[in-house]
Amino acid sequence: MQLQEIRQLVSQDMAKVNQHITTHLHPEIELINELGHYIIDSGGKRLRPLLVLLSANAFQYIGDHHIRLAAIVEFIHTATLLHDDVVDASLLRRGNETANAIWGDQSSVLVGDYLFSRSFQLMVEVKSLRVMELLANASNTIAAGEVQQLINCHDPDTTEERYYQVITDKTAKLFSAASELGALISQQSEVTIQAMADYGLSIGIAFQLMDDILDYKGDPKAMGKNIGDDLAEGKPTLPLIHALKNADAKTKTIIRNAIIKGDIENMPAIQAAINDTKAIEYTYLAAKNYVNNAINCLSVLKESPYKKALIALANLSIDRCD
Ligand code: IPE
Ligand code: IPE
Ligand code: MG
Ligand code: MG
Ligand code: MG
Repeated sequence: MQLQEIRQLVSQDMAKVNQHITTHLHPEIELINELGHYIIDSGGKRLRPLLVLLSANAFQYIGDHHIRLAAIVEFIHTATLLHDDVVDASLLRRGNETANAIWGDQSSVLVGDYLFSRSFQLMVEVKSLRVMELLANASNTIAAGEVQQLINCHDPDTTEERYYQVITDKTAKLFSAASELGALISQQSEVTIQAMADYGLSIGIAFQLMDDILDYKGDPKAMGKNIGDDLAEGKPTLPLIHALKNADAKTKTIIRNAIIKGDIENMPAIQAAINDTKAIEYTYLAAKNYVNNAINCLSVLKESPYKKALIALANLSIDRCD
């Protein structure tokens, strides 16, 4: 099953989600309107809303909270992207200039805050303390993950364990919340709710592992964002951590210095070390294991086209060039 077919399954719901996002952006200030629409209409994959919709439909959910929650999750995601591109000093997103490249860092940070707080206003409308708790925790975890990542930046002694903690928090937690929400609003058992949360967490980890591979190996045109941003920031992601651990002494020094300084001057030598140590294969294998974990979690679901789509989405999370 390809992404197109998966989307087709929930296309009516997704149209409502997009409508909900547009009508609830609600900006009275021109800058929020302009920048908000620029980022929201710029062709994101809407993966997290897709997870909410597929999960709710897999449990035959009846009602319209899944539409609201899918929109809320995308608001949170969009806010984190606005902030992320400032923190990462990135210039390209979704094939276009980033909002910070056009409007500057201050505007991106503040409109990001606007979208974040907007998502909390919309959450209240669902009138479920459990939903509020889940999304408040997810938002807080994302922020903690980004801070932890900042601490790891320029630190060549960053361990795999610290790296995994960062990607679990900054990325996987929102995938997890999105999948869990479908089970939660469908009044499923605690075991089932947990299984869906675990499914999302594993997909999210696999997705970020792949994103970190693509930052070394991807095609910027297909991805719509520049590659090499991670090394330029001195960010020790798994391919680099693996290369550093397994390279010869001379190359180790080059990699350590590149992480400390955050420069891409030695990119060719580092790319060679990544090849020689099979760092991409190593990272891909780890991602593949998480995909398998994710699929195993879905045993709580009855057979349905939605379950098939959730399985396919897990496989697609690492089979992407974006
Ligand atoms: C980008 O996520 C941020 C990461 C977690 C790597 P997506 O690749 O899902 O972003 P869009 O919304 O589709 O652009
Ligand atoms: C994911 O990390 C960012 C968030 C979860 C906010 P990246 O910094 O690698 O994401 P991209 O590559 O810029 O999309
Ligand atoms: Mg980034
Ligand atoms: Mg980042
Ligand atoms: Mg990235």
